[in-house]
Amino acid sequence: MKIGVLISGRGSNLKALIEACAEPDFRGKIALVISNRPGAAGLAIAEAAGIPTLVIDHKEFASRETFDAELDHALTKAGVEIVCNAGFMRILSDGFVEKWRDRQLNIHPSLLPAFKGLHVHQRALDAGVKITGCTVHFVRPEMDEGPIVAQAAVPVLPGDTAETLAARILEAEHRLYPLALRLVVNGEARVVGEHVVLSDADGAEATAPLFVPGI
Ligand code: GRF
Repeated sequence: MKIGVLISGRGSNLKALIEACAEPDFRGKIALVISNRPGAAGLAIAEAAGIPTLVIDHKEFASRETFDAELDHALTKAGVEIVCNAGFMRILSDGFVEKWRDRQLNIHPSLLPAFKGLHVHQRALDAGVKITGCTVHFVRPEMDEGPIVAQAAVPVLPGDTAETLAARILEAEHRLYPLALRLVVNGEARVVGEHVVLSDADGAEATAPLFVPGI
């Protein structure tokens, strides 16, 4: 299965996905990495791995729709079958999201539906939660909503700052995203209604999202 990855910055989740795809039994290949920011560090990570990259700078487009149309065109031209948002910091238009419905994943650094949006780690600390984590979900037009494929729980520790908590969650993200993508690529995670149904190698089904214990 051909995978397209959308990034805006650092690209550490992209790196985790590249490493997963390099495993001999992984049935997906990253065909294209697109950044909406010209200087994104993740572009160099993709290039070092020999993966085609493209910059589609949103600032050069008059509207969200025209930017998204260019994105869609590039993904389609590359034969992409599943899109992974990995630190992609643009809101996508409803038309793009519907076109890629059930074929687009996102990772968010909280246990959704808690703490959607930005500044999630500080908000988790301010709320006094003891457990947070990260979520991989299929993308829907509403931000940080959609059927959940997998979640990892991460403890909040005494003395945590937004930075230390973010770093602990990021480690979990790097384990969770490859794992969730593997389920989707293998056809072991399917959207039924607005939930993800997991089926194991024997075909046995479960409705609960996969839970990975925190580090
Ligand atoms: C990650 O924390 C991801 O969950 C969020 O943005 C960050 C991207 O980091 N959506 P990176 O670019 O993958 O290093």
